[in-house]
Amino acid sequence: MDYLSITGPSRLHGEVQISGAKNAALPLIAATLLSDEPCTVENVPQVADIKTLLKLFSKLGSKYIFEEHTLTIDNENITNTVATYDIVKTMRASILVLGPLLARFGRCEVSLPGGCAIGQRPIDLHLKALELMGANIDIKNGYVVATAPEGLKGARIIFDKITVTGSENIIMAAALAKGRSELINVAKEPEVVQLCEVLQEAGVNIEGIGTDELIIEGTEREPLKLSPFSIIPDRIEAGTYLCAAAITYGSVTLHNVRSDHLDAVTAKLHEAGCRIESEGASMTLYPAARLKSFEISTTEYPGFPTDMQAQFMALATQAEGVSIIEERLFENRFMHVSELQRLGASIHLKGHTATLNGPIQLLGADVMATDLRASSALVLAGLAASGTTNVHRIYHLDRGYEALHEKLKMLGAKLERLKE
Ligand code: UD1
Repeated sequence: MDYLSITGPSRLHGEVQISGAKNAALPLIAATLLSDEPCTVENVPQVADIKTLLKLFSKLGSKYIFEEHTLTIDNENITNTVATYDIVKTMRASILVLGPLLARFGRCEVSLPGGCAIGQRPIDLHLKALELMGANIDIKNGYVVATAPEGLKGARIIFDKITVTGSENIIMAAALAKGRSELINVAKEPEVVQLCEVLQEAGVNIEGIGTDELIIEGTEREPLKLSPFSIIPDRIEAGTYLCAAAITYGSVTLHNVRSDHLDAVTAKLHEAGCRIESEGASMTLYPAARLKSFEISTTEYPGFPTDMQAQFMALATQAEGVSIIEERLFENRFMHVSELQRLGASIHLKGHTATLNGPIQLLGADVMATDLRASSALVLAGLAASGTTNVHRIYHLDRGYEALHEKLKMLGAKLERLKE
């Protein structure tokens, strides 16, 4: 197993290319199951989660070539519609094959994902919506067994809660259903929007893209012809590099970004005293004279993303005054707190709210990565800490950050990737 050994404090400086969004690529690759012709997808990030999904696709009978950042995938001869436990347990997002497999083939089995480090994360809303579309759902031996021999039917679905992958699954299912679906309280994340745009480009009639109400006219199981498309930039990776610049009082320019997807994040960096300038697909963070405390409450897009909560907690350790961070989406997404405390952070945790006092001179220590975004918070803290911080279990980082170690090195960080 690898770990990152970071020597701080350092001041980041320079330019970095942001990769394609993992959370857009996953549903869009799943959406290629709605087609029986080869599809080409550009700007696909080289991260472990994508490779895990492609491993699942191989098992389904899919043929693909993934070179550099271009994926050409052909799902004409899908021979199997079972997503097995060994894959789903390593990546919850495998559940994204449920909607498209069921819609195209009328049957599939997907292992239940189970719990994960950041909470229980049920899929009840995905299943309830598919049942409203006429699917029979059974839970057998830890698998969701879904059938719809006559195909799915359009339905009116009101999501009890806003769910990103739930919305994506049902949008894909509705694209091949018979008739019209009305989806209410749908997630509006940019990744959901891109999925709708790609399906619309393939001829599916979708009204309300970018709002929380969608009307989708299904093709009645007619497979789609997907035009080549390019994955949107990763707003969470971009936000993480902005925080890396901010926490080290450095100045970093990001390329291949969508600044409009980062408004909630840049507003908070602004509050913390940083200056950000955007021009076209680039944005530059200029450091604060002195980082100031801030308050954050995570919520659905366009609000502040839960996937940036941990990185901002690292930043709050260096901000002057009391920062308050409330996590509203996941019940257990504070695994990084005890690790940040090992570096000396002053954090008081009560229920869903963390209160931090800063600034604190962090001191390097051995820390353990627990989930993807918590891990990046530990790396940021390691950049600000004096001495050596070893971040263990970085396979979590490999799931979602392409070449993190190389990109940080190019920005002047002192870090090594080493074997345990
Ligand atoms: C997606 C993102 C993840 C991000 C999260 C919230 C991907 C691959 N992952 O995860 O990075 O942190 O959105 O922005 O895009 N819920 C239910 N029942 C359901 C589904 C969800 O109760 O059937 C609850 C969850 O437990 C959670 C909330 O709804 O409390 C939001 O979860 P959801 O939006 O579904 O997260 P994911 O799609 O799993």
